[in-house]
Amino acid sequence: MIELIRVFKRFGSLQVLNGVSLTFRKGENTVILGKSGTGKSVLLKHVVRILEPDSGTVLADGRDISQFSDSELMEYRKTLGFLFQGAALYDSLSVFENVAFPLRRHLKLTETQITDRVTEALSWVSLPDAGSKMPSELSGGMRKRVGLARSLILNPAVMLYDEPTTGLDPITSNEISDLILKLQKQFGTTGLIVTHDMPCAFKVADRAVLLSEGNLLYDGEITGLEKSVDPLVHHFYQTSVAKRPEQLS
Ligand SMILES: Nc1ncnc2c1ncn2[C@@H]1O[C@H](COP(=O)(O)OP(=O)(O)OP(=O)(O)O)[C@@H](O)[C@H]1O
Ligand SMILES: [Mg+2]
Repeated sequence: MIELIRVFKRFGSLQVLNGVSLTFRKGENTVILGKSGTGKSVLLKHVVRILEPDSGTVLADGRDISQFSDSELMEYRKTLGFLFQGAALYDSLSVFENVAFPLRRHLKLTETQITDRVTEALSWVSLPDAGSKMPSELSGGMRKRVGLARSLILNPAVMLYDEPTTGLDPITSNEISDLILKLQKQFGTTGLIVTHDMPCAFKVADRAVLLSEGNLLYDGEITGLEKSVDPLVHHFYQTSVAKRPEQLS
């Protein structure tokens, strides 16, 4: 379980997080919604401790992550998989080596064990034969899948997805959404999913939160967005969902 308690973060004069309190529950997929620039990526970066709060606390299984020593932080990060916005593959490495990278870095495995794990991860994202390809030979959807394989190779308990489907066509987006669900169902992975892709959000969410101007405007079932009487939530729903109902199936 990961918990943010009254987290404040500002950059210069810009107050990005304004006392956000939010608990991500084990095994649950939480979709984080909100317009561009509201601090969704900043929030995820606090969970990984790439950014630290000005005030407030981030707890992982009840422990304040700001108090972690370097080795504790490394152990903690091993339990997280992240697929960051625009996350690049290493262009000079083959797909196989991209996916093997976290294994080589964090675990002492034999080459046979590495091959087995990478092969399994690539099959899992439906790219069993892509290992010898170079990233430049891949389509956008394939790159996302390889990124996903690399993120999940250490069997993370928690996956952070920052706009996992951006730039993909609806069919490929839907396939990525299916993978997010499969990961949750098969391994009980907790998911923190930042997305503007409402069909993806509706598909994967156990719960949705809406961030606006550094505060949580909504926290509940994603289907409840439609019924909210809060004018800002209503506006968000109208502009992002209601006009495209055909995409929600
Ligand atoms: N390291 C940083 N230094 C200064 N400002 C930053 C930094 N990181 C983010 N910001 C600012 O914080 C605000 C929130 O950024 P963030 O990337 O979290 O937005 P977002 O909600 O993820 O938007 P998008 O949907 O476009 O990805 C933006 O105004 C951004 O410019
Ligand atoms: Mg972002």
